[in-house]
Amino acid sequence: MSVLPTNDPPPHRPPTRSISTVCWAAKGGSGTSVVTASLALSTPPPVVLVDLAGDVPAVLGLSEPAGPGVHDWLASDTPAEQLHDLTVGVTDDVVLLPAGGVRETAGRDRWDDFLSALGSDDHTVLIDAGTGCPPAELHALADRTLLVTRACYLALRRAVAAPLRPSGIVLVAEPGRALRAPDVEAAVGAPVIASVPVDPAVARAVDAGLLSARLPRLVQRELRRAA
Ligand SMILES: Nc1ncnc2c1ncn2[C@@H]1O[C@H](COP(=O)(O)OP(=O)(O)OP(=O)(O)O)[C@@H](O)[C@H]1O
Ligand SMILES: [Mg+2]
Repeated sequence: MSVLPTNDPPPHRPPTRSISTVCWAAKGGSGTSVVTASLALSTPPPVVLVDLAGDVPAVLGLSEPAGPGVHDWLASDTPAEQLHDLTVGVTDDVVLLPAGGVRETAGRDRWDDFLSALGSDDHTVLIDAGTGCPPAELHALADRTLLVTRACYLALRRAVAAPLRPSGIVLVAEPGRALRAPDVEAAVGAPVIASVPVDPAVARAVDAGLLSARLPRLVQRELRRAA
C-alpha cells in the first residue's frame, strides 16, 4: 500500500451558500415563527436565525435572551463585526440573533450592513419578520421573501393587498380547506415552494420546547426542499 500523497481531489462536500430569506405572514398565527425556526433546523449549516418578531426563543424552548438583539443593533451605530457577538447557540449548526428591545426603523445602508455581516463565512440567514409586511429595505435587499400562509381566504385577501410580492410561499396546510395550493399561487402570484402540514406533533414539540430535537421528518424533508 502506498503512503505517498496523491493528487486525488478532496472529498466532495455540498456547496455552501450565503442566502438571505425573510419569512412573513399577512395574518397573525399563520405559523411564521414555527416555519422559520424549522427552516433553520432543515438548512445546511451554518445558519443564522434572526428574530425580528420576538417569539423564536419560546418556539425553540430557549430562555429569553437578556442582552441586546437585532433591533438594538439596527438602532445603534455598533459596528457590523459585533453582530455575531449578539447571537446565542441553538444547535451545533444554528445560532439565533434575538429580537432585543428597541424597535425603530432602520435605513437601507444599515440593513445592507446587517445582511452582509450576517451572511459572511457562508452563513445562511433566515429571518422571522413576523406578521405584516417586512421593512421595504429588507425586502429589497434579501435574496428571497417567503409568505407563510394557510389556505385561508382572509389571510390571502391581506396578502394580495400587501404592497409587496413574495418570491415564494410556504403553505401551512390544514385538512378540509376549500382552497388548494394552485388557488393560493394564483391569488398571490408566487409559487408554493413548500407545504408544511399542520401536525399535532409540531404543536406538541413547540409546547414542550423541544422543536429542535423533535422536528417531524416530514416537515424537515419538505423544508429541506425550500432551504
Ligand atoms: N405546522 C404546524 N403544525 C401544528 N401546529 C403549528 C404548526 N405551525 C404552527 N403551529 C402552532 O400554531 C401556533 C402559532 O404558530 P406561530 O407562533 O409560529 O405563528 P406566527 O404566525 O408566528 O404567529 P404571530 O402572528 O403571533 O407571530 C402555535 O401554537 C404553534 O405551535
Ligand atoms: Mg411569530
